[in-house]
Amino acid sequence: MATIGIVGATGLVGEELLKIINYSQIPFEKIFLFNSQKKLCDPILLKGKWHPITAVSLETLELCDVVFFLAGSEISKDYIPHLQRPTVIDLSSAFRTHKAVPLIIPEINGHLLETRPRVIASPNCTTSIMLMALYPLHKRYKLKRICASTYQAASGGGRKLLGSLLEETKRYALKRSASLSSLSYAFNLYPHPASIENCQDNLEETKMIFETRKILEDPTLSISCQCIRVPTLRVHGISLHVDFEDPLTEEEAFKELRAFPGIEIYAQPKMQLSSHEAIENQKILCSRIRIDPVDPTRLSLWVVGDQLLKGAALNAFQILEYLIGSSLILI
Ligand SMILES: NC(=O)c1ccc[n+]([C@@H]2O[C@H](COP(=O)([O-])OP(=O)(O)OC[C@H]3O[C@@H](n4cnc5c(N)ncnc54)[C@H](OP(=O)(O)O)[C@@H]3O)[C@@H](O)[C@H]2O)c1
Repeated sequence: MATIGIVGATGLVGEELLKIINYSQIPFEKIFLFNSQKKLCDPILLKGKWHPITAVSLETLELCDVVFFLAGSEISKDYIPHLQRPTVIDLSSAFRTHKAVPLIIPEINGHLLETRPRVIASPNCTTSIMLMALYPLHKRYKLKRICASTYQAASGGGRKLLGSLLEETKRYALKRSASLSSLSYAFNLYPHPASIENCQDNLEETKMIFETRKILEDPTLSISCQCIRVPTLRVHGISLHVDFEDPLTEEEAFKELRAFPGIEIYAQPKMQLSSHEAIENQKILCSRIRIDPVDPTRLSLWVVGDQLLKGAALNAFQILEYLIGSSLILI
């Protein structure tokens, strides 16, 4: 039985990962939970046992067989390079661009784990959600161009951003705040505030472009993204317009998507797929799937996914399941 470590166990993604582990069949001997220790935290009940939450230390991390890093890229950069023993599953962006670090969505490129990498990165949430919907079509018709507009919920920015949205909304509803400014999050839409890299794409958009090319192993794939924050609590939506090398029909697109694990299609008569349908849903949901009437290689679709699950905690857990299922780590 393995020893597991979770750095960032008290964050939004950490909470989801703990729920998944609690209900899973994965046996573990010991689990170490870490956070910043800025506030006193109660122990967490997991599989009938109470587990304390402590400060991170290299010594304790070295006792683990697998460590999940869910505490942002600075913490990942501080600790991961010094670790010798554990296999690391990193949810931050710290190592995603490193050549030697595979960027894994198990349904798409889990086979890359066969090389037993020591550090494994889980992609950005919008990339995972988008590629779950596009990969089954790409396999058959080959993507030529992607144009994506994202609608990203507050919890994508962690507990702090989620708290700001709730607080601003409450204040406005109670009329304690006279007006909403252009910088308010509540009742507002704005481009994702990740820093602008090259005066064109912001960092969130750059991540989506780089990570999509890396996962699909196509460094010249044409992608344009517009990442927008929306005042919803949870679940990211993505409006997609994509071009393929080969023509396809709607029926063919439905067939490929239906056959892919982790995807659910909302077709007639239930076409109004809202983000609420995806809350706490492990599947990626697709609707409004239609072929351009004048160009049969062009497809539009609307995709929603719980970014705390397939965009983060669930994908990371599935990486662990793949490693165990393929005896790449012994448990
Ligand atoms: N949110 C998403 O939808 C999403 C999607 C994909 C990937 N991710 C990635 O997943 C990670 C976690 O995101 P999140 O949304 O869960 O963030 P969050 O809600 O802000 O939680 C951050 C966690 O990191 C811990 N932490 C902060 N500083 C620390 C330190 N110095 N030492 C140890 N632990 C520390 C926090 O502990 P305290 O409770 O003590 O502050 C908390 O447990 C990030 O790397 C993020 O980029 C998030």
